[in-house]
Amino acid sequence: MDNPFAAKDFVTLKGIKRTDLELIFETALEMEKIVEKRTRADLLHDKVLGVAFFQVSTRTRMSFESAMLRLGGGIVGFADPKTTRSGDYYSESLQDVMHMMNGYADAIVIRHPQSGAPAEAATVAEVPVINAGDGYNEHPTQAVQDVYTMLKVKGSIDGLKVALVGDQNMRVMHSLPLALAQYNTHVYFVSPKDQAMPQPWLAEFTKVGLSFEQRIDLEGILSDLDVIYLMGTKTPSYSEGRTEVMLERPQTPQPYIINREKINRAKKSIIVMHPLPRVDELPVDVDSMDAAFYFKQANNGVAVRMAILSLIFGR
Ligand code: CP
Repeated sequence: MDNPFAAKDFVTLKGIKRTDLELIFETALEMEKIVEKRTRADLLHDKVLGVAFFQVSTRTRMSFESAMLRLGGGIVGFADPKTTRSGDYYSESLQDVMHMMNGYADAIVIRHPQSGAPAEAATVAEVPVINAGDGYNEHPTQAVQDVYTMLKVKGSIDGLKVALVGDQNMRVMHSLPLALAQYNTHVYFVSPKDQAMPQPWLAEFTKVGLSFEQRIDLEGILSDLDVIYLMGTKTPSYSEGRTEVMLERPQTPQPYIINREKINRAKKSIIVMHPLPRVDELPVDVDSMDAAFYFKQANNGVAVRMAILSLIFGR
């Protein structure tokens, strides 16, 4: 089968095709067998993944590292730029770090507070660069794992009505519709007016043929939805490396909280997804409901990232 990912960067879902997604999903299904057995394959035994996280992460970094280790490969990198010359007196540039990592690793996964940093890194590094989230721009591997989760739970993506609830400036809110546009879906962008989907992204979604509408709440659509994809409306700055906890976090307005009462008013088959971490927009008492799929969604990140890595390495 043709592998469009071989030796390529993976920095955006702009231009992604349905067949590309299907190839990742088919590969991820195979990878799940390795994850479920809690074993290691030797597919990438001769490869090293460079992990360059200039911004905090729980899931994305560890699932990439786990994916690489499960495939028999090695990892080298940092989870905190403060431990490198980027984060001290020298403020070493992204370009210089990429020149170094290009020699130390066979592919580089990068998270960065600056939009466009992975694309910039890819102009320096000769090895493939993977975007693990850049500022307020994109989070492509997250979106792929999200659609994979929908597919696994729902059996098909075509026909789904999906509400993306929360701050539409968040990066996964931009990558996910690009993937959903490859299917026959209808997407609602649900947010406060001052956190609506930015116009350039609306233009991008129109260009790729996404069926969508914008709403300020779930009024009148809740009972029609198949998927609620939730993010906060009270989030830290994604253009900083990290934001320390505030003494008193602002509270999420009611329309953007998904609680048991709202889920009970939705279809019995509705699924609630969230890329995590959460604050108060998703109360913990939802976790025990049949609709709660966010921990499964996070776990799917390993198999999906194994698939992306193995395809990029052409194996
Ligand atoms: N979903 C996600 O990107 O989580 P992390 O910030 O923990 O990687």
